[in-house]
Amino acid sequence: MRKFGLIGFPLSHSFSKKYFTEKFEKEEVQRTSYQLFPLKSIEEFSKLLEENQELTGLNVTIPYKEQIIPYLDEIDPKAESIGAVNTIKIINGKKIGYNSDYYGFKSSLTKFFGANSIPKSALILGTGGASKAVKAVLKDLNINFQLVSRSSGSNKVSYQEILDSPNQLAASRLVINTTPLGMSPNYESIPELPYEQLTENHFLYDLVYNPLITPFMQKGIDANCWVKNGLEMLHGQAEKSWEIWNK
Ligand SMILES: NC(=O)c1ccc[n+]([C@@H]2O[C@H](COP(=O)([O-])OP(=O)(O)OC[C@H]3O[C@@H](n4cnc5c(N)ncnc54)[C@H](OP(=O)(O)O)[C@@H]3O)[C@@H](O)[C@H]2O)c1
Repeated sequence: MRKFGLIGFPLSHSFSKKYFTEKFEKEEVQRTSYQLFPLKSIEEFSKLLEENQELTGLNVTIPYKEQIIPYLDEIDPKAESIGAVNTIKIINGKKIGYNSDYYGFKSSLTKFFGANSIPKSALILGTGGASKAVKAVLKDLNINFQLVSRSSGSNKVSYQEILDSPNQLAASRLVINTTPLGMSPNYESIPELPYEQLTENHFLYDLVYNPLITPFMQKGIDANCWVKNGLEMLHGQAEKSWEIWNK
């Protein structure tokens, strides 16, 4: 029996269990299960492994993508440079960390541009775990970016600064929402930006996938921009995790 699962807290709205259970059925992957392991503290991780010796792979979600790192025996160089792990492969008790969000986002973003020229500069909204994987992708695609946060700092500007700038949003053809704004059940919330600066040459990517059209994306639709939600990234990161566990 091969056992996979997800650690995080809380896990009541998890996408992964349904996705992998359906995948195993559809692809006739036998003697394999995917379970949820809600951990109230990351300190429960070692006990979880002791009690589930047949675990061969795990996904990691909020709030443990960074806290899990000291518990690993090895970390893939890309995940290490990102500073976050969302996939663990377990071989003979050895725990190796990877970041499949990076691959899911990279392939989805590249498809999003299609035959269009890749924007030279971007705004990344939010500075949490997902933002780190997004940052690494933009670096690797040679897209300059500015982090936008609720508070300004040495490497980030505030939403107010973007609102006060007559052209920063206009000049950033790619805008990526990595905040939970607009996500169910907060359907109405939206990053505060001078949306009137958007043009038909802008690309708005929202990592949120529920609802399928967020208020942020709607602003882009109204201004005739290219828009995309996070569903393809979500599927892409799950498939990349599966590939990592099986290679
Ligand atoms: N599509 C996918 O495959 C995928 C993968 C990963 C994550 N996601 C989605 O991406 C979102 C973020 O995930 P995460 O893991 O990065 O979460 P996180 O670590 O909690 O970080 C989210 C960041 O958003 C900003 N933020 C939080 N609340 C905010 C608010 N009320 N107003 C403005 N900004 C706020 C914060 O940045 P500042 O403190 O700098 O403002 C925070 O660090 C979630 O909706 C998640 O579902 C999607």
